Amino acid sequence: MDAPFGTFLLDEAIVIWRTSDGKAHAMKDLCIHRGTALSLGWLKDDCVVCPYHAWQYDRHGECILIPQAPGAKIPSKAKTPKYNCVEKFGIVWVAINEPVYNLPNIQEFNDKKWQFINTGPFEWDSDSSRQIENFTDFGHFPWVHPGLLGNPDRPLVPECKVQVKGSVLHYSIVRPEANNTNDFPIFANEKVVKPERKSVYELHLPYTIILRLGWGGEKGMIYFFTSQPISKNKCRGYCIVGRNYNLDEPESVIQDFEKVIFDQDKRIVESQRPQQVPFDLSEELHLKFDSVAINYRRTMKKEKLYY
Ligand code: FES
Ligand SMILES: [Fe+2]
Repeated sequence: MDAPFGTFLLDEAIVIWRTSDGKAHAMKDLCIHRGTALSLGWLKDDCVVCPYHAWQYDRHGECILIPQAPGAKIPSKAKTPKYNCVEKFGIVWVAINEPVYNLPNIQEFNDKKWQFINTGPFEWDSDSSRQIENFTDFGHFPWVHPGLLGNPDRPLVPECKVQVKGSVLHYSIVRPEANNTNDFPIFANEKVVKPERKSVYELHLPYTIILRLGWGGEKGMIYFFTSQPISKNKCRGYCIVGRNYNLDEPESVIQDFEKVIFDQDKRIVESQRPQQVPFDLSEELHLKFDSVAINYRRTMKKEKLYY
């Protein structure tokens, strides 16, 4: 990152940038002088420089140089709010208020036998809650991803019990494996009579999922998915795919596969109204196979995690 990067979190404009020691910083993307977006500026001497009149803000958000008033005392009001910011899994995480939960751990990330591939990001016109529920939804696989993740001849959703531990939902399912296609030979289904895939999920509220796929042997995949809540009608999903096999296969095979899958979901989810999941269970119609969504909505409401 050699230039400041502007983005939004819960409608708040944020500028993210790095000092020369490599550390990432996040601040309100607003210059106190005339309200200009600092992210349109540039980096100099471990500061963000405003693009309008070149005031310089340091890593604490303090303005330390005003070129139009050299040597004069800098007004104490000359600063921009700084936010909590950490980097993990190659993603910069920002919390506008004090963080409520710890970020999850994935031990495989530090294991050399595993390869991790960034896919996306996937920017959708929906709230993050709809994007997350879509990632956890089993019933749509045969209809939205026929031939890739499901088969219309097998519409039944296997039984899935959800365990809620604090702000994390745990659940798993075993289902018949969809075949690899010639374009996307990426799943490690063993050549057995009845190939089955076990999917073990951790849904860390509000918007992060760790999914481990296994076929009964050593080979495994991990999906790490998190959705950035930009606004109530905009989100950006980051999907990191890990695997401990096929390490010579080009990363683009997985990236292209996820692009196809996420694009198939995007048009469906962008049509959903309201754009944010209604957290009151009476507002939509739930059946037994929707147990993950029911628990997601219930726990989000209990933990007061939506806005
Ligand atoms: S608006 Fe930023 S320096 Fe003037
Ligand atoms: Fe999908």
